[in-house]
Order: sequence, then C-alpha cells, then structure tokens
Amino acid sequence: MNSFIILMCLSYHLVACEPQCSKFDYEEKTLAKIIRTEILVEQVMSDIKQLKQQTNDAVTSMERMKTELRESIQSMHAENALKLEEYNNTIMKWKDRLDIKPDVVFLAKDPTTQSPSSTIIFGTTMYDMSQSYDNSSGTFTAPVEGVYAFTAQMCLNVGAYKHIHYAIVANDRQVSNSLTYTKDTRFCNTVQAFVVLDKGQTVHVSALGTSAVPLRQNNANEWCTFSGILIR
Ligand SMILES: *[C@@H]1O[C@H](CO)[C@@H](O)[C@H](O)[C@H]1NC(C)=O
Ligand SMILES: *[C@@H]1O[C@H](CO)[C@@H](O)[C@H](O)[C@H]1NC(C)=O
Repeated sequence: MNSFIILMCLSYHLVACEPQCSKFDYEEKTLAKIIRTEILVEQVMSDIKQLKQQTNDAVTSMERMKTELRESIQSMHAENALKLEEYNNTIMKWKDRLDIKPDVVFLAKDPTTQSPSSTIIFGTTMYDMSQSYDNSSGTFTAPVEGVYAFTAQMCLNVGAYKHIHYAIVANDRQVSNSLTYTKDTRFCNTVQAFVVLDKGQTVHVSALGTSAVPLRQNNANEWCTFSGILIR
C-alpha cells in the first residue's frame, strides 16, 4: 500500500501531464467520489430516517389532538344537552302559568219560568265575555280548563209556604245546595261554588224540588241570577 502511494506520488510528479498518469488519477477521483457518494447516501438515509421519525411523531401528536378534540366536543355536547334539558324543564314548568287565558265572566238573570222543574234557564244575558253561557238552555260551557267560581241567587215569590230546593251542578255533579223556605216574606238566597273544570265541561243551576210558583217574577229590586268567572 505504502509502495503504491509512493509510486503514485512519484508517477504524479514525474508524469503529471502525461496521459498514463491520468489513469490513476481517474481511479483515485472515482474512488473519492464513491466514498463521498456513500457518505452522502448515509447522510441522506439518516436524514430520511429522522424525517420519518418526525413525521411519525407529528402523526401521533395529530391523532392525540384529534382524540382530545373529539372528547372535548363530546363533553361539550353532553353539557349542552344537559343545559337544554334544564331550560326545557324550566320552560315546561312556567308554560302553564304563562298561558294567557281568555277573560271568562258572565251574568244572566230572569228565569224563563217562575216554576222551574229542572234546569233553571236564565233568559237575559247581562254580559258574557267569552260567549260561554247559552241563554236558551241555561248552560255554561267552560271554554278553557281552569278554576271557576259560580254564584246563583233565587228570590222567593210572595205567598204561603213558598220554597225552592236548588243546586249548582258542575259536570253533572251538585257542587252547591240550598233549600229556601218562607211562610210569607220576600227574600233572596245565594249559593256559591268553586270548581275545577276541563275545557267543554258544563255548569247549570237545577231546581230539585219546589212549591207551586216559587220564584219571584222578574223584578227590578230582586234578581234571580246565575253568574260565573274563571279565576285562573
Ligand atoms: C321538553 O320536555 C317535555 C316534557 O318533559 C317533552 O315532552 C319535550 O319533548 C321536551 N322537549 C325537548 C326539546 O327536549
Ligand atoms: C241570548 O244570548 C245571545 C248570544 O249568546 C245574545 O245575542 C242575546 O242578546 C241573548 N238574549 C238576551 C235576552 O239576553
């Protein structure tokens, strides 16, 4: 090897410009080039390996981020659903109270007969905000569900032993009862009832038992009436 280098140096010095010399020169350069190429390839390979590692790391961290993002979106969804349910419950709770109900109030008077035997029909409608009282049948029909108050007043006719037993009947059930009896005085008697009605249920005043001609004739001073109001 040493002798080869010496020989090469000698050859180089002696025949630097000779074409024979360029043979070694060429091989030497080729060798150097190959070595440089190998080093370069190694470096490139190492760079590629590093790049691959970095890419893998990036992919891994992106996947981790994706998972975290998905988890946080899922928890946000769950939180929102809970909040929505809470809001919905609150709204539902208040909905009934916020429901704007119509004005329901009526007053009717003047029974169509002085001798009623079942439903007392009050023929004159004084007022009826929701058009719920039928003055031809004597029946009130609830336009909405709610708590109602009803009043009925009977004025007895003048005469011996006049009496009337009557009741407010809500949805076919007596909810207020009175028996008014007098030997010979004029007076009126009032009954009242608070009832909860569903929409469409009816209320009327019923005569359950009477003497002959128990009611006073329609009179300016004494009124037989039937009235009602929606409280809430
Ligand atoms: C709100 O609550 C009511 C009664 O609990 C339910 O019927 C309705 O579907 C709910 N609405 C929503 C949007 O969750
Ligand atoms: C009976 O009721 C109707 C409407 O419901 C009304 O138009 C009429 O005036 C009432 N009649 C009397 C005598 O009040």
